[in-house]
Amino acid sequence: MFLLGSANRDERVFQNPDFFDISRELTPENRIMTFGDGIHACLGAPLARLAGRVLVETLLEGPEIRVVGLPERWAKQMVRGFANLPVKFVD
Ligand code: HEM
Repeated sequence: MFLLGSANRDERVFQNPDFFDISRELTPENRIMTFGDGIHACLGAPLARLAGRVLVETLLEGPEIRVVGLPERWAKQMVRGFANLPVKFVD
């Protein structure tokens, strides 16, 4: 079993693996492992990608956002991220 987050930062596969490059081109040679691979790859990946796209577009078009509290980490064996990130919309 591998760590998905670690696989996505494999310096043998990705140039500048720790740099968040939203325009990074993904090819069969440097595919990301976020949604797994092979026969048990994520069935919801297209929906999750669409939701992510809508979220980013909405945030870019919407009001400014300020972080107003301490972020709370969520770290499990497979997935890591934020359980809580208090924000405020500023007009
Ligand atoms: C950002 C959101 C998501 C991430 C990062 C994610 C990630 C993953 C990963 C890594 C696996 C493979 C686990 C393994 O190797 O056993 C997986 C499997 C799966 N995911 Fe997702 N997933 C996401 C959203 C969704 C959504 C929205 C759905 C359904 C609407 C979904 C349904 C499934 C199902 C049914 C499987 C099992 C596929 C199988 O075992 O054949 N996922 N997901």
